[in-house]
Amino acid sequence: MRLGTVIADEHIPNTSEFAFVFDKGAKVRKGQYVQAESEDGLVFGYVADVYRGNRYFERAESVSEYERESKIADHFPVKDWEYIIGQVKILGSAEINGSELRQKRTSIPPFPGAEVHSANEDFLRQFVGFADNGLLLGKLQNHEVEARLDMTRLLQKHLAILAMSGAGKSHLASVLIEEILDRKKEDGRIAVVVVDIHGEYYGFKEDPAYRSKTKVVSGKDIKISFRRLTPAIVREFFPDIGQSNAQYSTLSGVLKEMQREMKNEHREYSIKDLIAKIEASKSATENVKIPLLRALHELGSYRIISGTENPKFAKDIKPGELLILDLSDLDDYKKKQILVSYTAKRLFKLRKEGRIPPLLFLVEEAHNFAPERIDKYSGIAKRDVEKIAREGRKFGVSLCLISQRPVNLSTTALSQCNTHIILRVTNPNDLDHIKKSSEGIDERMSRSITALQTGEAIVVGSAVNAPIFIDIRERKSKKKEKGKPLHEQALEFENNQKQKEEDVEAFL
Ligand SMILES: Nc1ncnc2c1ncn2[C@@H]1O[C@H](COP(=O)(O)OP(=O)(O)O)[C@@H](O)[C@H]1O
Ligand SMILES: [Mg+2]
Repeated sequence: MRLGTVIADEHIPNTSEFAFVFDKGAKVRKGQYVQAESEDGLVFGYVADVYRGNRYFERAESVSEYERESKIADHFPVKDWEYIIGQVKILGSAEINGSELRQKRTSIPPFPGAEVHSANEDFLRQFVGFADNGLLLGKLQNHEVEARLDMTRLLQKHLAILAMSGAGKSHLASVLIEEILDRKKEDGRIAVVVVDIHGEYYGFKEDPAYRSKTKVVSGKDIKISFRRLTPAIVREFFPDIGQSNAQYSTLSGVLKEMQREMKNEHREYSIKDLIAKIEASKSATENVKIPLLRALHELGSYRIISGTENPKFAKDIKPGELLILDLSDLDDYKKKQILVSYTAKRLFKLRKEGRIPPLLFLVEEAHNFAPERIDKYSGIAKRDVEKIAREGRKFGVSLCLISQRPVNLSTTALSQCNTHIILRVTNPNDLDHIKKSSEGIDERMSRSITALQTGEAIVVGSAVNAPIFIDIRERKSKKKEKGKPLHEQALEFENNQKQKEEDVEAFL
């Protein structure tokens, strides 16, 4: 569809921008993709801004003078002189060979006077880099083009979903999970493991279409097997232990002996037995024992060390299936840290050994588990999440970090996320941070981030050839969060109250 004509001004058209005047009646929207010709083939860009002009209204003093008497429009054909200009940010050029597109950098701007057309949708699909069997996250804004992102390009080098609370992060993550669970074997199916902080993914377990592919484990039921407890793990949870060689080697000696007995003599031991054995140890002094015992008692009190591991990561992670670690029933911050740290370690190790399929590890509230600045507890999971960020790619462990506080998110982890999907953000600090850490976000784009509606997103980075705006699709799976809405809780309370009063009355 023809939209208008490229105009020439002092510096434009140049290789990064051009402007065009709209044909009368042409419908052009900000954000729309357009194409125009140059010697190099087609130049693609998006309408970054639209403004109107009219010679009759250019001189303030004469407009003011005239309008005092009567309306200018009553005497002159002002409507005929109105024009609309679209400012286009150039994204790149392409040579067209039949229906094939060969992309290149724009080295020459479009001709002044060239026709501007709405971008051809087949070209657009190729130009932004969508894949026919890609993950259908929604549609390209202003165009009838499905946003199908190539799974490998989107996930292999990790993904960050950044936005303020309520902008649609968890919704988008659910859409992403649906797409992964719906994938056909021949397209390559990965597994998904979700760290669900608010119990938002529970709907998958109740949805007939996804129920059989979903396993939910509640935070309080997650267990680390005693067999897998190592002095190194204890030291990570209780860094003080690592400071003292004597404590570390005492623990190490006792644990090794117990684990040898468990293996060779089929004995069952627990953390209680470990505590007892250290208490009884003759070789360690009280100075060594007391802090060690204090740490082990604390570890025992979390009730996370048990005879058998739960979930059984090696068995419970399957291609095209979802494992939800629902931590919404846990209050203890340190316990959550320990569980995420352990999970990340296990996923990495099992994947390295090839015992589980390639997977997506999706972490909600990621700034809590991979924070930029650490305090006493918040560093526990950080190293493990960063390790996946740095090395996961080689072993098919993809990370998806979701956060409403990108400023507080580990720079190391965030910088390894090669694709960012950004939804609405209004906090200036976060916005500034996103601008610095997301490749390809210019000033103009960062301004539009504050104006995004719920469900509108910008995708930048390795998943796409150029930054794009998309409308995230509706979800297919059941939306069910743990915890009822506030108004229902209030109503329930009052009804219960009334029932009690009635019961008392009936009794009297
Ligand atoms: N693309 C969308 N289409 C329809 N509703 C959406 C969309 N994105 C988000 N919502 C709705 O907006 C609300 C907030 O979304 P949510 O994903 O929970 O936000 P966040 O996780 O960023 O806090 C939810 O009720 C959700 O269903
Ligand atoms: Mg959320």
